[in-house]
Amino acid sequence: MKYFKKMIGKKCYLSPISVEDAEQYCEWLNDFEIASNLLIFSQQLSLEKELGILQDMIKNNSQIFAIVELETDKLLGNCSIFRINERNRKAEVGIFIGDKKYWNKGYGTEALTLLLDYGFNILNLNNIMLEVFSFNKRAIRSYEKIGFKIIGPRREALQIAGKKYDEIYMDILASEFKSIYIKKIMDKK
Ligand SMILES: CC(C)(COP(=O)(O)OP(=O)(O)OC[C@H]1O[C@@H](n2cnc3c(N)ncnc32)[C@H](O)[C@@H]1OP(=O)(O)O)[C@@H](O)C(=O)NCCC(=O)NCCS
Repeated sequence: MKYFKKMIGKKCYLSPISVEDAEQYCEWLNDFEIASNLLIFSQQLSLEKELGILQDMIKNNSQIFAIVELETDKLLGNCSIFRINERNRKAEVGIFIGDKKYWNKGYGTEALTLLLDYGFNILNLNNIMLEVFSFNKRAIRSYEKIGFKIIGPRREALQIAGKKYDEIYMDILASEFKSIYIKKIMDKK
């Protein structure tokens, strides 16, 4: 698989996605340990469906990126900017690292920082928001490290195995974000 270094960090880079990765994404998104954090588990995600989703995203020029390890060019997951509202310069983001061996090693934080760099400094967004389940402490910690602040919880918005959980809304402003890639390149010009 050939990936393209669109946004480059120290450990990983963001590349345009490829439909050839549909099977790998499908495997990850049917794994409950991963999907329980994303709520995609309640849908039937077949290979045909995932292929269709990726093809639509590529055709519609969606802001979705493969996350790829810099040293090995190995696919780790993906991340995206969606619900882009150009008038009010706001959007939402989502991310997953599908290879669990790569959790807790800083890849997710760096990939999301690169995604925000793209969102704030290329798409010129002002407010970027995300939703995270209250039990996902790893994700919340990662988002706080980047500079996301908690807006508040939507109470008991999720129920799994008889237990209710809050959905936490977090956001970050362009003025609170420090670029790690785009600005470095532009400062040389
Ligand atoms: C969420 C996710 C993107 C984070 O990426 P990551 O590479 O694993 O995270 P990082 O290593 O960059 O940062 C995780 C931080 O959380 C901390 N952490 C891990 N488990 C924790 C816990 N139970 N409680 C508190 N902090 C925790 C880590 O120590 C680390 O902080 P540190 O650098 O200060 O030590 C990734 O784990 C993932 O894709 N998970 C599955 C899907 C998912 O949850 N997606 C997000 C949905 S909102």
